[in-house]
Formats: sequence, C-alpha cells, structure tokens
Amino acid sequence: MSVTLTADRTERIRLGVNVDHIATLRQARGTRYPDPVFAASLAELAGADQITIHLREDRRHIQERDLQILRKTLTVPLNLEMAATQDMVCKALEYLPDTVTLVPEKREERTTEGGLDVAGQLAVITKVVGQLQAAGIVVSLFIDPTEAQVRASAQTGAPAIELHTGDYAEAKTAALHCERLQHLRDAALLAHRLGLRVAAGHGLDYQNVQSVAALPHVEELNIGHSIVARAVLVGFERAVAEMILAMHTAP
Ligand code: PXP
Repeated sequence: MSVTLTADRTERIRLGVNVDHIATLRQARGTRYPDPVFAASLAELAGADQITIHLREDRRHIQERDLQILRKTLTVPLNLEMAATQDMVCKALEYLPDTVTLVPEKREERTTEGGLDVAGQLAVITKVVGQLQAAGIVVSLFIDPTEAQVRASAQTGAPAIELHTGDYAEAKTAALHCERLQHLRDAALLAHRLGLRVAAGHGLDYQNVQSVAALPHVEELNIGHSIVARAVLVGFERAVAEMILAMHTAP
C-alpha cells in the first residue's frame, strides 16, 4: 500500500497533477488524442508526485479505459476522485488506486462545486471509507474548510482530507482573500490536531498557489485546470510551427 501524503512538513509540498481536462479536450471531438495517459507520463517526467483523475458518473472526461491503463503505467501514486456511491466503490475495488478522494458530484455542475457534506452524511461516508480502507486504499475527503466538516471527517476514520480552495480562489477582494485563506489555515490546523493529513486543491493557479502552499500542515496540492490551460498556450507556437512544417513537407 502506498501512502500519498507525506508526514514530514520539512519535505517539499507534493503536487498531484489532475489530467481530467486533457480528457475533456479528447472527448470534445471523440478522437484518440490528446490522451490523458500520455499527459500523465509527461507530468510524471516533469516531477509530478501523483496523478489525479476524476471518474465521473457521466464519464464526461476521464473514461474507465484511462483508469485501467494509468493503473498499469504510472510509477507515481494514482489518486482517484469519485463520488461516495456503491457503483464507484466497485470501480475502486476493481482498479485499486493508491488513494481515493471522495468528492460530491452533481451531473449538472461544471466542475466539483463545494466540498463533500461529511457532517450531513456521516454514516454513508464512514461506510465507504471503511470499504475502501479494507482494500488497502488510502482515503481522503474533499471538504470545505469548516470546523464541522473537519471534525466529521476525523470521525469517519479517513486518514486525510483535501481542503476545497475554490472559494479562496474566487475571492474578488483582498479582504475576502484574507478571510478565506484564514478559513483554510484554521481548518488545516484543526485537521492536524485531530490527526488528519492535509491536502488542498481546486481553482489554484500560478498567482494564488503560493499562499496555499505556505499554509501549515498542507502537504499536497492537486491542480489541473490552470496547468492544462497554460500548457495549451506555452505549447501553441510550437504546435503551429509543426503544422506549417507538415504542410510544407507534403509530398
Ligand atoms: N481536487 C479536487 C478534489 C477536484 O475535484 C479538482 C477538480 O477536479 C481538483 C483538485 C483540481 O481543480 P482544478 O482543475 O481547478 O485545478
């Protein structure tokens, strides 16, 4: 069993690269490319500490085939985000990712909106945590940074939480930014006191990441959209130049 969150804060903070949006681009055209499996390998070569994918109920981006191949090809841990349903528990038990992060899921949402209501579904979440942990999977709960959710998470027996940074990332004023960062700090401190390991993610980008990376006890960040968005632009000139070359070298 591999534990993906590091206990020692003197170690550098870990990056989980979320490759869902590579799959989003692929699914937009029903092509074979770009392949999130390929992207995951490149992320690994670039130093990613883990690969994160969300197998959604509607399979809008990541497909079961991606999970199956990544399970065989990755040399860094695989973190599977999924809803706390029995269907998804079956998938996790079939493919055995290193970590499962339980997330809330609504079909109509654009992306994961808000954290998992662990406090409101304590029995269901505790059962799913137990099922996954019995199979050797490390479970993390993706929650809003509130005292009630952190305390409830500790009660489930899960060893880790991932703090939802979406509200922080969307703060429009400096005052809100500070207030929401403080919520994250308080939640991280409480979680640590309760023996939970702490990750964070959602909406983190090249501007707002540093304050979160500097929070006490935050050992891991999971980041997807901003990395994929940047990759599109930093690779754009080369992609155009390669197309021109392909046109000009036509037989
Ligand atoms: N962590 C969790 C639990 C998520 O659901 C997501 C989005 O799939 C992320 C991190 C990454 O968020 P973003 O794509 O905004 O970086």
